Amino acid sequence: MNNHFANLSRLRQDERIRRLVRQTTLSRDDLIMPLFIHHGENVKHPIAAMEGQFQWSVDNVADFARELVAIGVRAVLLFGIPAHKDAVGSDSLDDNRGVIQRALRALKQAVPELVLITDLCFCEYTDHGHCGVLAERGGRRVLDHAATRERLVLQALSHARAGADMVAPSGMIDGQVGAIRQGLDANGLGHIPIMAYAAKYASSFYGPFREAAGGAPSFGDRRSHQLDPANSDEALREAAADVAEGADILMVKPAGYYGDIIRRLRDNFNLPLAAYQVSGEYAMIKAAAAAGRLDEAAIVRETLLSLKRAGADLIITYFADTKEIK
Ligand code: PBG
Repeated sequence: MNNHFANLSRLRQDERIRRLVRQTTLSRDDLIMPLFIHHGENVKHPIAAMEGQFQWSVDNVADFARELVAIGVRAVLLFGIPAHKDAVGSDSLDDNRGVIQRALRALKQAVPELVLITDLCFCEYTDHGHCGVLAERGGRRVLDHAATRERLVLQALSHARAGADMVAPSGMIDGQVGAIRQGLDANGLGHIPIMAYAAKYASSFYGPFREAAGGAPSFGDRRSHQLDPANSDEALREAAADVAEGADILMVKPAGYYGDIIRRLRDNFNLPLAAYQVSGEYAMIKAAAAAGRLDEAAIVRETLLSLKRAGADLIITYFADTKEIK
């Protein structure tokens, strides 16, 4: 046995055999499409930083959602851009006026088969652009986690009452999963799952999203609560806390460049795991393809495959409607 050369290419020589031994496959069943819901009527704003993506008003989004369903998209993640912002993000809690609440009712009626997931955060709704309520500490304005938690519960309840099938708290507020779980359970909404942004890094890859959702911080940044890109162990601590608090699905964000984090969570927890291919990852691929440097369809497949290979079960991606995936 020692006198022969390895012939590992034997199983790679033709596509019929490659298919048989392929370990990872892509299906639209596992993809979630983010959608930006804008206040007003008859809005379909192109997002310059994210070529091919739009902000939709409530009256327009149902038609687009029908197109998504027709090609097999099964789930969307909703972000809201409200007409009014204030210090505590009041619009996000309004059962009637809330842009997400109105979109949920419209989508539930138009496309009942679509899974409606809502992002729970305040950065798009506050006039300072931070992810929650602020407090004064030592002459600095800082996030008040306890006060924000209370309001996150109200946002979750309002979304669930309006028709959300699942909620996804994205603010990295301490204890957010436990508070929302208790709030939902105490209000007859125990059947609503929580997809927890368990390991959300303070990443520069969110740049284009700031234009898409209008939630840039007016001062400072998000490093006081989002994870440090230099760290890996704290992702495990965050995920363990979310599991203990009742998360149903864990998420890693961004996705590409964070394959090591996806793999560590996969190996340490047995909940379904989502990866969020964020706005900057999307924009980079679009820009390189537009410049003729990369083959977009091939790169999209390869990036999504790499996330599944790293251990993701679900992928949130602006490419969820890409034609190349069935
Ligand atoms: C916060 C939120 C952000 C993203 C999703 N939810 C922005 C941030 O944390 O600064 C980024 C998504 C993307 O870049 O595609 N509500």
